Amino acid sequence: MTAWPGVLAAFADRLPIGDGTPRLTLLEGGTPLIPAAALAREFPGATLYYKWEGANPTGSFKDRGMVVAVAKAAEAGAPGVVCASTGNTSASAAAYAARCGLRCVVILPEGKVAAGKLAQARMHGAVVAMIPGNFDDALRLARETSDALGLALVNSFNPYRLEGQKTAAFEIADALGGPPDILALPVGNAGNISAYWRGFVELANGGARPRLWGFQAAGAAPFVRGAPISDPETIATAIRIGRPASWDTAQRALAESGGRVAAVSDDEILFAQRRLAAEEGIFTEPASATCIAGLLRARQDGHPVTGHVVAVLTGHGLKDPAVADHTPPPVRIEATVDGVAALLAAH
Ligand code: F0G
Repeated sequence: MTAWPGVLAAFADRLPIGDGTPRLTLLEGGTPLIPAAALAREFPGATLYYKWEGANPTGSFKDRGMVVAVAKAAEAGAPGVVCASTGNTSASAAAYAARCGLRCVVILPEGKVAAGKLAQARMHGAVVAMIPGNFDDALRLARETSDALGLALVNSFNPYRLEGQKTAAFEIADALGGPPDILALPVGNAGNISAYWRGFVELANGGARPRLWGFQAAGAAPFVRGAPISDPETIATAIRIGRPASWDTAQRALAESGGRVAAVSDDEILFAQRRLAAEEGIFTEPASATCIAGLLRARQDGHPVTGHVVAVLTGHGLKDPAVADHTPPPVRIEATVDGVAALLAAH
């Protein structure tokens, strides 16, 4: 058995890297494609899989693109990197910058980043700036900072980010022996849906490609509305975005794939997240559960969920432990077996 070598080494021939690019890695990518168990019963006409991106080194899919973007920044001699983030991009940028000795500045919307993600950026030694305003405001400032201070911008405007992220499509097609029929995923800044499409188009060579089903939180659903929104709000803070950067490429991907975009409520997101954790043993963050909520809703709304269906679970639930407050709290008991038995009987 050969060990997984990380994204740059595994996909060297399909990424814009050369001899001068440092072979940076935390062994990102190579994530599991887990067959659904309990939830499979909800979709009798389909074979459902989870692409478990929470298994990446910093706990989200961002590592695939960040390893390429940071390696290229180092190759270009940048003094450091900067990004805006709802949390995961900053955690990943901070980790990879630390790994290759670059400075890292992250710009975050104050009060709207999950505790675990904030802890990651701080522990990896990033300079963490909080701004009043939302992600869209932070992104504007990150661009200006990059221009003014010569730091490499590692948001998804950076073309290397999407190049790295497309590798998840290669892995899925490899595992299934071809592309799935439907790829369901959450949509925020819309980089990931654009990257998956690029990956599947590169692979297809004119052949089969999946339909892309993008899901947004109802309070932050500019694609569903067809226009940017100024005050996005949702419990899924990772996708609390009103003005997606990759608007045009995502719209094109959705259209070319014969796909669709739909919104789900915060209650549906939390319900789906709980079911994944309690019935499948997979603890994702709320944004990731959006695509499961979306598949459940699609079935209710009469959209056939058929064939090979892959739901992209983008990030780990440990990043946002506050969501556990939506479950029954732990109960204090006397330290006796009777106490445990009474509690068990009450459940
Ligand atoms: N899921 C998670 C867990 C995310 O963190 C993000 C985006 C998305 C889905 C949506 O992906 O933006 O490519 O459409 N997080 C970014 C961040 C915005 O700053 O971490 P997208």
